[in-house]
Amino acid sequence: STGMSKKKISKAIFPVGGLGTRFLPATKAIPKEMLPIVDKPLIQYAVEEAVEAGIDTLIFITGRNKYAIANHFDRTHEIEQQLQERGNTEQLERIKKMLPEHVSCAYIRQNAPLGLGHAVLCAKQAIGDEPFAVLLADDLLDSGTPGCLAQMVNLHQQTGNCVIAVEEVEPHKTDQYGIVEIDHQSKMASSPIIRSIIEKPAPDQAPSRLGVVGRYILTPQIFTLLEQTAADAGGDIQLTDAIGQLLSQQTIYAHNFGGKRYDCGSYEGFVDATINFALKRPDLTEVIEENVLEIHRKIMAARKERVERWIKQLRQ
Ligand code: G1P
Repeated sequence: STGMSKKKISKAIFPVGGLGTRFLPATKAIPKEMLPIVDKPLIQYAVEEAVEAGIDTLIFITGRNKYAIANHFDRTHEIEQQLQERGNTEQLERIKKMLPEHVSCAYIRQNAPLGLGHAVLCAKQAIGDEPFAVLLADDLLDSGTPGCLAQMVNLHQQTGNCVIAVEEVEPHKTDQYGIVEIDHQSKMASSPIIRSIIEKPAPDQAPSRLGVVGRYILTPQIFTLLEQTAADAGGDIQLTDAIGQLLSQQTIYAHNFGGKRYDCGSYEGFVDATINFALKRPDLTEVIEENVLEIHRKIMAARKERVERWIKQLRQ
């Protein structure tokens, strides 16, 4: 099974309808994709990555709180005018440039919380008969240029096939991600062919440590398969299950994008991303360095105290 038609990838789906329960109360009135890393919401990083990859139609699959995202990507003439009057040109440029003129947004309501597969299926009519991208904005990628999605679009343009981004995950974390098994003959290639895929296997069930990152290039055949996919035990229609079915019809590549994924759907990833993205900013480096030194001093002092207590106990 080889390449489908090599159409341009112009549309991207952003599923943003999740409840974001892990980040309550921060996500009470906004989707988790609106949480900022330093000064930009997660969704904006993903949108910029998509625009860089040549996407011109952004399709947001929204749940409750959809207005925060729609408002974010609207032109805000009042703010622009105010900044203009105050001569704040730097900030003015930052919000003006948010979306280039040729990019448009569409919002589709996901009216039932049936999981990622269902969210993607909601975009069926809007996508039509062409390959498209899916970006999960709570995966924040640090990959240099070209970004992950641009790399994947390149690979699609050369082959016509589906592409899924992957990253090696720690052995005990296989149950947090889709895990792919790679075709042995293509193992050495930078983008090997996927042989099988399974959603969140326990470490002892995982066929590998290659975890799916939230960036996909899919062909419209996926919609038919999603329509036939039953909900899992948790009531979710899994995109992973439909991709598993697609594997018997088409070649799908695993793309190792050569960067780091911050899983900002977890506290750990969110904090890690905040520190590392702040470190990229010259104006914040100093304050982080000072804090890190101070934290290090405290950790060392606490350790010393523990060891002294332990020695004292041994002597008694
Ligand atoms: C989803 C997918 C999973 C993938 C992950 C990437 O899981 O189902 O296969 O590895 O995104 O972030 P979720 O994060 O929605 O639980």
